[in-house]
Amino acid sequence: MKISRLVSNIPGSETLALTAKVNELRAQGKNVIGFTAGEPDFDTPETIKEAAIDSLRRGNTKYTPVGGTMKLKEAVCEAFERDYGFAVSPENVIVSCGAKHSLFNLFFTLFEEGDEVICPAPYWVSYPPMIEMTGAKPVIVDTREAGMKLEAGMVARAITPRTRGIVINSPSNPTGMVFDRKELEEIAELCLRHDITIISDDIYRKIVFEPNEFFSVASISPEVAKKTFIIDGSSKTYAMTGWRIGFCIGDKDVIKAMERLQSQSTSNPVSFAQEGALASLVSDETAAIVEKRRKIFQQRRDLIVRKIREIPGMGIIEPGGSFYAFPSIDGYLDRFKDANAFTQYLIEHALVAVVPGVAFGAPDHVRFSFATSEENIEKGLDRVKEALASL
Ligand SMILES: Cc1ncc(COP(=O)(O)O)c(C=O)c1O
Repeated sequence: MKISRLVSNIPGSETLALTAKVNELRAQGKNVIGFTAGEPDFDTPETIKEAAIDSLRRGNTKYTPVGGTMKLKEAVCEAFERDYGFAVSPENVIVSCGAKHSLFNLFFTLFEEGDEVICPAPYWVSYPPMIEMTGAKPVIVDTREAGMKLEAGMVARAITPRTRGIVINSPSNPTGMVFDRKELEEIAELCLRHDITIISDDIYRKIVFEPNEFFSVASISPEVAKKTFIIDGSSKTYAMTGWRIGFCIGDKDVIKAMERLQSQSTSNPVSFAQEGALASLVSDETAAIVEKRRKIFQQRRDLIVRKIREIPGMGIIEPGGSFYAFPSIDGYLDRFKDANAFTQYLIEHALVAVVPGVAFGAPDHVRFSFATSEENIEKGLDRVKEALASL
């Protein structure tokens, strides 16, 4: 059967082959340690689960408004005002089926053929294909030489008369880099001058390690906020990846247009998942759990960075947030063609699974997720060190 050109051009997930290999080895009884998870290894807090179960029991099993319930939108606004320092109203909010869906709706609403969208690399895997699907061109700006952080000078060089958008992701997947206010101000100033819309993917904003602090580009000034769309969601903060709840906050006319798009595709996000998300935003108990987990991630970050630095030929810039470590494997690229070959070697010889950097636009890096126990981090990195020493 003929597959449409649009869908034929969508790249398959690079990690699927990896997952298949890990499953095959595990089926053979081999104890593979996985560092590939893109989700917290913790469970969703009980209060949130109870809220969703209770909601189901109360018969909350019907359609909700397309862009989410008013109660949830109001809770998003309250949480937003608390954390970002300025107020938004429910008409600035749309709830979608995960932050990925929020981004998809936003890109489709804003961009089309002829547009260019600046996307710093290393990037989260889905930005470039999603931008391409709209017909727009992702303009990849490599930040590896600049310590993995986009600088205003790089943005200035990438801007053309066609530039319509820029993606900022802080803390970043896969690098863990966190922008500070000054760095963002320089970039935002360019965006204002050239009328560029900012997409700020803040999904890891609650997983930031001291002394770093989360600061969103939208908080710079009301002018910048007007040009910015915030992407957020329940997945990473509240360990709710399976619930599929994402938020987009921004200009009300664009939000309304996104609701039109959503009304002709998924309709509303799951009714009782919205009730769970509501509980996550208003519960003090849940906030305490989030903070406790943040500290655990910070300890794991310290451990994994120390263990990576013990491995000759690998270099890492300490991640300031998220749950990813993204070392370079420069010291091994004389023996491996690229990160894919390196990754295959680690699976076979160290029984350790990591994600090759190719998918993130950095073929000389690999991604370790530290959403796993300290014991696994100790053991896994020891195995990596040993396997590489025997090359
Ligand atoms: C940077 C970034 N943005 C967005 C998402 C999408 O999250 P979700 O669709 O689970 O809400 C992810 C998930 O891995 C991510 O890493």
